[in-house]
Amino acid sequence: MEERIVSPNLEEDEISQELSLRPQKLSEYIGQKDCKEMLDVYIKAALKRNEALDHVLLYGPPGLGKTTLAQIISNELNVNIKVVSGPSIERSGDLAAVLSSLSEGDVLFIDEIHRLPRYVEEVLYSAMEDYVLDIVVGKDNQTRTIRVDLPPFTLVGATTRFGDLSAPLRDRFGVVLRLEYYTDEDLKEIITRTAKVYNTKIDLAAIKELAVRSRGTPRIANRLFRRVRDFADIKNDGVISLEICKEALTKLGIDSSGLDYTDYRYLKAIVETFKGGPVGVESLAATISEEVSTIEDVYEPYLLQEGYIKRSNRGRIATEKAYKKLGIKYYKGIFE
Ligand SMILES: Nc1ncnc2c1ncn2[C@@H]1O[C@H](COP(=O)(O)OP(=O)(O)O)[C@@H](O)[C@H]1O
Ligand SMILES: [Mg+2]
Repeated sequence: MEERIVSPNLEEDEISQELSLRPQKLSEYIGQKDCKEMLDVYIKAALKRNEALDHVLLYGPPGLGKTTLAQIISNELNVNIKVVSGPSIERSGDLAAVLSSLSEGDVLFIDEIHRLPRYVEEVLYSAMEDYVLDIVVGKDNQTRTIRVDLPPFTLVGATTRFGDLSAPLRDRFGVVLRLEYYTDEDLKEIITRTAKVYNTKIDLAAIKELAVRSRGTPRIANRLFRRVRDFADIKNDGVISLEICKEALTKLGIDSSGLDYTDYRYLKAIVETFKGGPVGVESLAATISEEVSTIEDVYEPYLLQEGYIKRSNRGRIATEKAYKKLGIKYYKGIFE
């Protein structure tokens, strides 16, 4: 299947691009005012007391800046950061090894922390709470537990699915921050910054156009920017004008609100196949041949936020806005 250009997930070939675009300091991190303010206070307090920062949990849809923020936290604290991903840690010994390699005050960043296997997660409890590691040695009924001290460290966890985290793990984070979709103003600032990094001329109107089509997501804004820049390089001496911008985005199948072909398929399925809903996510997934998790993590959060759909305990419902978008006459259903 062709990659979806407005997918907020990080694609393999973008990794180096994203690295060069990543803000390094809290002051360069655009938007997310509440998160920034709180982190600023906690970081300064930890530095002042010369203590490790309390464990931080970052959650929110993909592409909003969780990994970036984790890096910034370690930069601001002047410590090293170790980056691991939940699903890549298969054995508790793997996590124990990572934990033992930390120095005092270091940041351990666990991405997709909701995907840590439960028995691995259990190793984290005592590590987070008391900075100790309980290691079971021996075999069968000859086992005993050795307790190893760890230096004080900061765990930064990131997840797109707050609800999938177990309560004992959630409770061990002193700082829990939810990242929000960015406003158009924030996105304009991010795109302006990106244009500077790439040394590209871009009209104000084009910046605004890109912002409103980026689904509140910096990763998508930067990706659209790069695609549009390709068009500008070939057709307009590298200058991104509003005209070039619109032409490119239309060719890429992105509508004036940032919705693409797959969003339309999803909305059409609810409206036409399921008469506006409510419909369960499994039935929707089967209808448009997508994974349930992709629908829940990637498509729906933005459609919900923008009010195209609503969620009820009986399933998804298309709103009047969705009907309008599809150009289909709306009859107020009995479920609204
Ligand atoms: N607040 C921000 N200011 C500027 N750029 C940002 C911001 N947040 C994210 N970005 C950009 O978006 C990209 C994706 O962010 P990332 O931290 O990888 O998201 P996540 O980990 O939540 O999926 C980064 O490479 C960065 O260029
Ligand atoms: Mg990330």
